[in-house]
Amino acid sequence: PAEAPASIPAEAPGTFRIHATDGAARTGVLHTAHGPVRTPIFMPVGTVGSVKAVAPDDLDAIGAEIILGNTYHLYLRPGDELVARRGGLHGFNAWKKPILTDSGGFQVFSLSALRKITEQGVEFRSHLDGSKHLFTPEKVVSIQRNLNSDIMMVLDECVSYGADKPYTEKSLALTTRWAQRCRDAYPGGTAGNLLFGITQGGFFKDLRERSIGELTQIDFDGFALGGLSVGESKPEMMDILYHCAPLLPADKPRYLMGVGTPLDIINGIAAGVDMFDCVLPTRNARNGTLYTSLGKINIKRKEFAEDDGPLDPACNCYACRTFSRAYLRHLYVAKELLAFRLNSVHNLTYFLDVVRGARAAIAEGRFAAYKAGFEAIYPEEVV
Ligand code: GUN
Ligand code: ZN
Repeated sequence: PAEAPASIPAEAPGTFRIHATDGAARTGVLHTAHGPVRTPIFMPVGTVGSVKAVAPDDLDAIGAEIILGNTYHLYLRPGDELVARRGGLHGFNAWKKPILTDSGGFQVFSLSALRKITEQGVEFRSHLDGSKHLFTPEKVVSIQRNLNSDIMMVLDECVSYGADKPYTEKSLALTTRWAQRCRDAYPGGTAGNLLFGITQGGFFKDLRERSIGELTQIDFDGFALGGLSVGESKPEMMDILYHCAPLLPADKPRYLMGVGTPLDIINGIAAGVDMFDCVLPTRNARNGTLYTSLGKINIKRKEFAEDDGPLDPACNCYACRTFSRAYLRHLYVAKELLAFRLNSVHNLTYFLDVVRGARAAIAEGRFAAYKAGFEAIYPEEVV
C-alpha cells in the first residue's frame, strides 16, 4: 500500500505498527488517545498551545496529524491547572488530534535565567517575570498529565555543545535517573498518556551508547534522540544520528528532537527515525524565508514584486492555490498579519509534504531516489 488508509481503525494508545521498510527507513502508524499518526511525521511546534499564526482548521487543511506543545511555557502561562480545568490542552485550544509535549528540560536551559541543576531537579527563574520555580521529574509528569498530552517527554538535561566528556558522562547518568523517576511517577495506565524517554550523551559515541543502553532498560512507549542540532556542524550531527538511530529499539517510535531542515529530516528518516519537530518552517515563514520545490527563497526580494506565478507550482496549499508571489511579497513588505498566516501555511505544507512523500517512497521501495531528490535541491547541506 502506498499509504495507510485514510481511516485507520483505532487501536490501543502506544500501539506502533510498521507497514513497510526500505533500508533503515520505516513507515507505519503510531496510535494515541486522540487518534493515529502516520510515520514518518513532522510535528508543527505550538509552543504555548498555538502553532503561531495558524488555527486548527488551517492545520487540518495542511494535513497536520500531531502538534507539539511546551511544558515550560504552559506551566508558566496560563498554568497547567487552569488548562486541566478546561479539559486539558485539547479542551483549551480546540485541536482534536494528538499533542506531544516537551518536558521543559530543553526550554529551561535555552530560555530561563539562573538555572541550577541538582539531583532533585532543575531550579530556574521564569523568562516572563523572574519568579523562581523547580522542575523535578515528578513535577513535569504531573504538568503533562494536567495538559493531558498524548505523548509526554521525560525531564532531561540537554548538554550544551562543547561540553567535555566528564560533564557529559555525569549529565547522562542524571538524565537516566530522572527518566526512571518519570516512569515511576506514572507507570502508565488507561488514560493513554504515552511517555517517551530521551537519550543524551553529547558528541561521544560511547556515551551515546551508554545512554541508549540505560534508557532502553526502562519501559517507555518511544525513544528520542536529544542533544542534537545544538550548534554542532552538519557532519557531527549526521555522524551521531546515523550511529545512534539504529541502536534505538526497532519496535518503538523513534523521535529526533528539534530537527530540522528538510534534508535533516530526510537523513533522519534514512537513519530510521519516525518523528521530527522544529520551529524552522513557522519561524522562517515569519521572516519571509519560504521553502519551495526548487529550494529556499526570500519573498521580500525585489525580483518577486511583479511575479504573478504561484509561490511554488508544486504546492497545493491555500497560499499557493490562491495568491501570486507578487501579492505575498506585498503582504510581507507591508508587514500585514496575513503574511504570517499564508507563509506559515505554505512552509508547514512543504514540511508535511516532505514526510508524506517519504512515507509513499518507503512503501514503494524508492526512498533512496527520493532522498537524492532532496540532495539535489539542497546541495549545500549534503554531508
Ligand atoms: N528539543 C530539542 N532537543 C531537545 C533535547 O535534547 N531535550 C528536550 N527535552 N527537548 C529538546
Ligand atoms: Zn504552498
